[in-house]
Amino acid sequence: MRSKLIEAATNARKNAYAIYSNFHVGAAVETSSGKIFQGCNVENASYGLTICAERTALVSAIAAGENTFTHLVVATENGVSPCGACRQVIWELCGEIPITLVDETGVRTETSSSELLPQAFGQQDLGS
Ligand code: THU
Repeated sequence: MRSKLIEAATNARKNAYAIYSNFHVGAAVETSSGKIFQGCNVENASYGLTICAERTALVSAIAAGENTFTHLVVATENGVSPCGACRQVIWELCGEIPITLVDETGVRTETSSSELLPQAFGQQDLGS
């Protein structure tokens, strides 16, 4: 399953709409029911409206009625890790899950949502 997820993230990367940064990102998330949802970054001339690949994939899955996630893969040229905003969204929607970062040559880095966002603020902090 991990190789299918990597393939999906790598393929999604080809769809990136990144005409401003030219930094193409693909992501793919696996659900507990075994489905895969993919996403890519979608930029905007109003730069702050850009949506990252990780959030595109997760929002797509949520919109399809999926809300339990088991693994996330992010594919970039150089295997970088998710931005801060995406880390917060990953924590919100996925909780603690394994995350694989892949670069163009196939080199993988294995991490997790809590490793990327230690001491995260989340639902549990809002009180009753
Ligand atoms: N980007 C992502 O898609 N995910 C990240 O976690 C980091 C940044 C995108 C946003 C923008 O389109 C481009 O990469 C450069 O920042």
